[in-house]
Order: sequence, then C-alpha cells, then structure tokens
Amino acid sequence: MTIPEVLVLGAGGHAKVLIDILLSLGTPIKGALEPNQELWGKSVLGVPIIAGDEFIFTYKPEDILLVNGLGSVKNTLPRRKLFERWKAHGYSFASVIHPKAIVSSHAHCDEGVQIMAGAIISAGVQIAENCVINTGAIIEHDCKLEAHVHISPGAHLAGTVKVGAGSHIGLSASILQNLSLGEACLIAAGAVVVDSVESGKTVMGIPAK
Ligand SMILES: CC(C)(COP(=O)(O)OP(=O)(O)OC[C@H]1O[C@@H](n2cnc3c(N)ncnc32)[C@H](O)[C@@H]1OP(=O)(O)O)[C@@H](O)C(=O)NCCC(=O)NCCS
Repeated sequence: MTIPEVLVLGAGGHAKVLIDILLSLGTPIKGALEPNQELWGKSVLGVPIIAGDEFIFTYKPEDILLVNGLGSVKNTLPRRKLFERWKAHGYSFASVIHPKAIVSSHAHCDEGVQIMAGAIISAGVQIAENCVINTGAIIEHDCKLEAHVHISPGAHLAGTVKVGAGSHIGLSASILQNLSLGEACLIAAGAVVVDSVESGKTVMGIPAK
C-alpha cells in the first residue's frame, strides 16, 4: 500500500512534535506550511518550510493529506478554524498516532485525531475529529470527546467523562468520573474537576472553581 504524502500546516512547537512522529512512522512529508514568509526556505527537523497555506491548492484534495500543526495553550478556536477551512475546500486530514501511545482496539478516533507519545486511550472511548490527546495524557474507559478538544500533556480523564467541542483541558488537570464538560470550556493547568462545567466557563484549582 502506498502511504499518501502529507503537508503539515504550521512550523511551531506542535508541528515539530507531529513531524517527529510522522518521521518515525516513515510517512512521506512534502513540507511544512507557515504564514510567516521569513521562515520560508528554513526547515523543521529537516522538513522544508515551503510556503503559506495557499500552497495546498497546488494539489487536488485526493492527492494530499493535511496535518493540523497548529497547537493551543488555552484557545482551541484557531486550530478549529484551520481544520474547518480546508475541510470546506474538500481536503482531508491525516490522523497521527505515536507508535508508543496505547490505544485500545475498542476505542474509536475520527479524522485528524492526534495522539502523542505515552498517551493511553482505554476501551469504549470515542474521540471526534481534530482532537489532540497530548503527551502522557490518560483517557479512561467510555469517555466521549467532541470535535476540536485539546487534552494537554499529563491530563487525566476518569471513566465516562464527556467533553464538549473545542474545550481545552490544561496541563496535568484531572477530571473525575461521569462528569460533563460543556463546549469551549477551559480547565486550568493542575485543576481537579469534581463537578460538571457549563459551556464557555473557565475553572481552576483544587477542587476546581
Ligand atoms: C488558566 C490559564 C488559562 C490562565 O491564564 P491567564 O488568563 O493568562 O491568567 P493569568 O496567568 O493572568 O492568571 C490569572 C490568575 O489565575 C491564577 N492562575 C493562573 N493559572 C492558574 C492555574 N493553572 N491554577 C490556579 N490558578 C491559576 C493566577 O495566579 C492569577 O491569580 P491572581 O489574579 O490571584 O494573581 C492558564 O494559567 C492555564 O492554566 N493554561 C493552561 C496551560 C496549558 O494547558 N498548557 C499546555 C499546552 S500544551
């Protein structure tokens, strides 16, 4: 089977982690795309930064796969907009799963999901499109993540947690079992969430308020 070539959108830290995984998987990378023209001609881990995003139009949607290299530290919207823009033009996003992530064969991941090194995804988990499960995060059994969610490094979700679209779960946060987080919630780094959280709310601390 031929592995399709990919273009990575972005050339910053998140893109670098993804490129590292793609290289380890032997995925052919055409290049990285970046709006800042000063970076054109430079490279990330040996992958050339070739142009801005409009370069994608030089390919038909069926001839290339995209990788969303835009990360987020609290606001997932720019990453979501990038994904939706290119989906609207008919392009598809590759999923990127580190070979040393543990993903249950009874979990389900949609298009463009990214799972970094050391993450653990248990049985019955559903992860919708464009989510990031970052380094060392744990998603326990039967959790359901809507699209564009970012689970930061070291965060833990206990069993049967629901996370609404576009929410950001901060570095090393913990969410207790059976809770529901609404859309676009921001859970601060280190928080321990013991109650469900309404859409659009930010909570922090232990217990999170
Ligand atoms: C919650 C967060 C978004 C707040 O960021 P911010 O809006 O820039 O807020 P500030 O840093 O100005 O802090 C505002 C207040 O909240 C407190 N605070 C900030 N982060 C906190 C945290 N994680 N837990 C508890 N209190 C926190 C600050 O001490 C400050 O308190 P003060 O008003 O009494 O001085 C941010 O601290 C955070 O946790 N981001 C997540 C980072 C992350 O997940 N990174 C991984 C990316 S891969």
